[in-house]
Amino acid sequence: MATLDELKQQFAKLTSDYANLIATATSEQELRKVFADYGGAQGLVRNLQKHAIKTAAPTEKRNVGQLGNAAIETVEREFSARLSALEEAARRRDLERSVDLTLPGVRRRLGHLHPITLVRRELVAIFAELGFVVAVGPHVETDFNNFAALAMPKDHPARDMQDTFYVEGAPDLVLRTHTSPVQIREMLAHPPPVRIIAPGACYRKDEDPTHSPMFHQIEGLCVDEGVTFADLKGVLLHFVRRYFGETHRIRLRPSFFPFTEPSAEVDISCVFCEGKGCRTCKQSGWIELGGAGMVDPEVFRHVNYDAERYTGFAFGFGLERMAMLRYGIDNIGRFFDGDVRFAAQFQS
Ligand code: PHE
Repeated sequence: MATLDELKQQFAKLTSDYANLIATATSEQELRKVFADYGGAQGLVRNLQKHAIKTAAPTEKRNVGQLGNAAIETVEREFSARLSALEEAARRRDLERSVDLTLPGVRRRLGHLHPITLVRRELVAIFAELGFVVAVGPHVETDFNNFAALAMPKDHPARDMQDTFYVEGAPDLVLRTHTSPVQIREMLAHPPPVRIIAPGACYRKDEDPTHSPMFHQIEGLCVDEGVTFADLKGVLLHFVRRYFGETHRIRLRPSFFPFTEPSAEVDISCVFCEGKGCRTCKQSGWIELGGAGMVDPEVFRHVNYDAERYTGFAFGFGLERMAMLRYGIDNIGRFFDGDVRFAAQFQS
């Protein structure tokens, strides 16, 4: 066994090695590692102490223990001192990093609402004033909701007007060709009276400067006792004036839809020339907004409404058409090509 003096030297060697290592440690992590290697429970200093006590003569054990304790104290004290020094240095570096508080900040680019979203929100708000509530339906619809219940049974010629996308392997499912199936969903779910406005995407195999295979419609449906064509006209006129301006007029042209009788095409006086005649309205002074009419009793039969007691009107307008008129946009493709510079032009 080593003499007390030899032991003293061994501890001194360890603490001096340790002191050198922590002096060059540049991070807290590095420092903690060195501390664990020497001062930890399994560290070199404690191991030496344990070994020395074990092999010391009984009368020497106490002195040997004290020698070890003194070395451990040194190791711990130096660790704390070095840790404070490292922290202080980091703090100073932080403070010295110069920050120019007068520099302008980084301006974040704000996102914009898509013009279709803007139009939809405005239209919904106008119809909400008249007591219409928003209803929605899925884009993938049943043949029944999209066609059959709207008085277009299989092989009905009117189905040809709507170039339908069918879902492969599911002969009963289509991408809805209009928002009118939301009428059916609403009436199947609720007894009259109903007053809904249903905006949403629709799909048809169609593509040119005024048609897109995916587009949006906004559907209106009002059913109650005593609803007349005059109510339809009043609601449409109110809406057109609120949305396009008080000077605008509407025109209802006789038309045909299988699910309305009588049916009409709704025109508004041209928003570009105010009815005088221009290129956009093809010199007619009128621009077509969409279809409308009184709900056909045949539709009521499909949703179990009493056609003797209730009458209703419905209309369906193209949202892109409305946005094009409102903002003077000449190509429907603009809405869908994802150019943010386009969307950024509209106030949200
Ligand atoms: N759903 C019809 C279409 O897309 C429009 C319409 C809706 C017509 C409601 C009359 C009543 O062509």
